[in-house]
Amino acid sequence: MLIMRQVVFVVRILVVGEILKNIIFGDCKNFPHIFYMITIKQFNLKDVDYILHWFSNTKNREFQRTKTIDKDKALRLISSDKNKTVYGIYLDDALIGYAMLKYFYVKVEIGINIDEPFWGHGYGFEAMKLLEEKAKEKKYYKIEVLVNEHNERALKLYKKLGYKDTDLKILEKEL
Ligand SMILES: CC(C)(COP(=O)(O)OP(=O)(O)OC[C@H]1O[C@@H](n2cnc3c(N)ncnc32)[C@H](O)[C@@H]1OP(=O)(O)O)[C@@H](O)C(=O)NCCC(=O)NCCS
Repeated sequence: MLIMRQVVFVVRILVVGEILKNIIFGDCKNFPHIFYMITIKQFNLKDVDYILHWFSNTKNREFQRTKTIDKDKALRLISSDKNKTVYGIYLDDALIGYAMLKYFYVKVEIGINIDEPFWGHGYGFEAMKLLEEKAKEKKYYKIEVLVNEHNERALKLYKKLGYKDTDLKILEKEL
């Protein structure tokens, strides 16, 4: 009986320790909406430098189809129009990534890009849910994501959100 009590005591200490570690070291994944807030806000052209900053990290662009970027390309990338809305992703007040919704006849394509220091905390998951809400508000009923088959982190995220594999393959040609 004494042994059982001691085991329960140790387990309690470990659980409390894990919670404190999460709070102190900022890994708030298990406490969404309590310690941080993810929001999305339509990008402004003055945010163009953020795109250049994002692309300057080689880890960020490992699976990007666009490998190099200059200010002109970045401006084109972030300008919203009737076919596309580009959002900044904010952790509280800090810009930690960007995303876009591209509108097609019956479906929306989502692209999401979080800055590498912020990966793995559940922020991508939270942001995707907000982006899906935006697509629903516009009455679209189908969402697609284009993802490199080796991008395991992104695949895990999308699968967790309920995205299914398709038989489609993308072909492309430089003009
Ligand atoms: C893909 C991306 C948006 C994910 O954002 P994120 O904030 O890291 O995502 P989350 O933390 O919500 O979820 C990532 C999941 O991958 C898991 N993961 C982390 N590292 C991994 C790895 N090396 N391999 C496989 N899965 C991994 C995490 O554990 C987490 O799953 P879990 O919640 O079940 O534990 C972000 O990594 C990113 O912007 N990458 C660069 C650009 C990119 O590839 N965009 C997607 C284009 S399709």
